[in-house]
Amino acid sequence: MQEVRLAKIKGKEYDALLEPMEQELVGVARWARASGARICVIFEGRDTAGKGGAIRAVSERLNPRQCRVVALSKPSEEERTQWYFQRYVRHLPSAGEIVLFDRSWYNRAGVEKVMGYASDEQVERFLVDAPHFERMLVDDGILLFKYWLATDQAEQEERLAERLEDPLKRWKLSPIDLAARERYQAYTDAREAMLAATHTDFAPWTLVDFNDQKRGRLTLIRDLLDRLPDTHVEDEPLDFPALGHAPLHET
Ligand code: ADP
Ligand code: MLT
Repeated sequence: MQEVRLAKIKGKEYDALLEPMEQELVGVARWARASGARICVIFEGRDTAGKGGAIRAVSERLNPRQCRVVALSKPSEEERTQWYFQRYVRHLPSAGEIVLFDRSWYNRAGVEKVMGYASDEQVERFLVDAPHFERMLVDDGILLFKYWLATDQAEQEERLAERLEDPLKRWKLSPIDLAARERYQAYTDAREAMLAATHTDFAPWTLVDFNDQKRGRLTLIRDLLDRLPDTHVEDEPLDFPALGHAPLHET
């Protein structure tokens, strides 16, 4: 099959397209504060897919106290003794918050399965439990969005090579990334099983092509904005003296 690939989007064009969406995101944040909405966005994908960049694009213009990024490291000994979802639950959004998960409970269906950190039985159980867990979140009113950032093997190879060569990017390479390279097909199979079990009406997955990261970010943010309710809320009036006219106090 012949593949047609769009030219990579240029920096200036990207900025021009992103800017109005950033304005809309600021509007969403204002609406979330006013309405008490709880927004939870999951970013998943292969290593090097561009989760970090996508999360930065969403969060850059927002107040970091309102828009939190959750990137958990591997579970501690204590966490291993807990209910699998427990360590994620404490990071779910409170009223007015937007929480962006850089990887999520889906680790169990991906890296933990492929690298053997979880048993087959644990993975099977996760695939059965995850829709129930998400159903509870959605029924409680949390707005849950799940994005899979899709990259193909050639693109992954290119990005890994770049990271090996660039001292500023090398820190991003972990032994797991290199193992993931060897196990490309195993990750593909794991993803297919995950999508089959967890793509539900109430918490569907959205797959976004991230072979071009900038185009991917624009597509993802547009999709997210379109899925959120109509969020227009007037700016809160600011009781703030005009700059240069603040009362001066003698010291
Ligand atoms: P990152 O891609 O975030 O730089 P790594 O490549 O080191 O991190 O790890 C990939 C993912 O695998 C992370 O989400 C990490 O928490 C998870 N992970 C690493 N080691 C383990 C482990 N022993 N058990 C469970 N999960 C692990
Ligand atoms: C990402 O997807 O943002 C990064 O590439 C993280 C990683 O290396 O897995």
